[in-house]
Amino acid sequence: MKGIILAGGTGSRLYPLTRVTNKHLLPVYDRPMIFYPIQTLVNAGIRDILLVTGGQSAGEFLRLLGNGKDFGLQHINYTYQEGEGGIADALRLAEHFADGEPICVVLGDNIIEGNILSACEKFRRKPEGAHVILKEVPDPQRFGVPVLDGNRVIRIEEKPARPPSPYAVIGVYLYDHTVFDRIRTLKPSARGELEITDVNNSYIAEGKLSCSILEGWWTDAGTFESLLRANNLVAQSGANKMKLSSATGAA
Ligand code: DAU
Repeated sequence: MKGIILAGGTGSRLYPLTRVTNKHLLPVYDRPMIFYPIQTLVNAGIRDILLVTGGQSAGEFLRLLGNGKDFGLQHINYTYQEGEGGIADALRLAEHFADGEPICVVLGDNIIEGNILSACEKFRRKPEGAHVILKEVPDPQRFGVPVLDGNRVIRIEEKPARPPSPYAVIGVYLYDHTVFDRIRTLKPSARGELEITDVNNSYIAEGKLSCSILEGWWTDAGTFESLLRANNLVAQSGANKMKLSSATGAA
């Protein structure tokens, strides 16, 4: 299974913090935000990783991450999203990298306390369809929200004014190789983006989407409130206990 981190977009909800830098380079407690999704993939045993970024500070990712030494990696792949056409538009750029293999996609501003190892292992054994991960949240209207029938997802609504359940679909998605064909059929949403929720709904329409519930806390970090929460959660829980090989500042 290959890993893809989506770290494009403008981060406009964090202006002026993101006026001269990419959101995913901002600090979350003791390290840049982008370190967390990379660690999520590495903890799931994924070593072949593509980072999709964009905007004016794309080159800074290379200076910060290099070949991934901080994570015990030997290599990181990079690509560049022109504009900010949405999450599915950024994922489109990973088709060549995925090369027909199943993929694990992580949004660059999503931070989890635990790990996604069991979901990844299950999907590795039977890499068909899609798998999404849910977490109960106090503010589901900010996210993709599942309509549930028992423990089956029958539809996902993107940022519904009246959430049909108390769950968010977190920004970690497992897909089979058909995901890129599905993206090709998408039309931009009302906010002008190719929506990942539409990709997930296309799997649901064919009865090919499974789900699980995440253990431990989860947060995004794309608004002032959630960025502050991310800092506090990481600081309090020791989610950052992974020591960095460059933490001493040694080259
Ligand atoms: O955090 C989980 C939520 O993420 C899901 O519940 C929603 O269904 C999903 O649409 C998304 O919602 P947001 O509106 O919070 O996504 P946002 O626009 O903040 O983008 C999340 C990440 O995706 C961002 O950190 C970088 C990446 N991205 C986003 C866009 C719009 C890109 O790489 N390129 C883009 O053009």
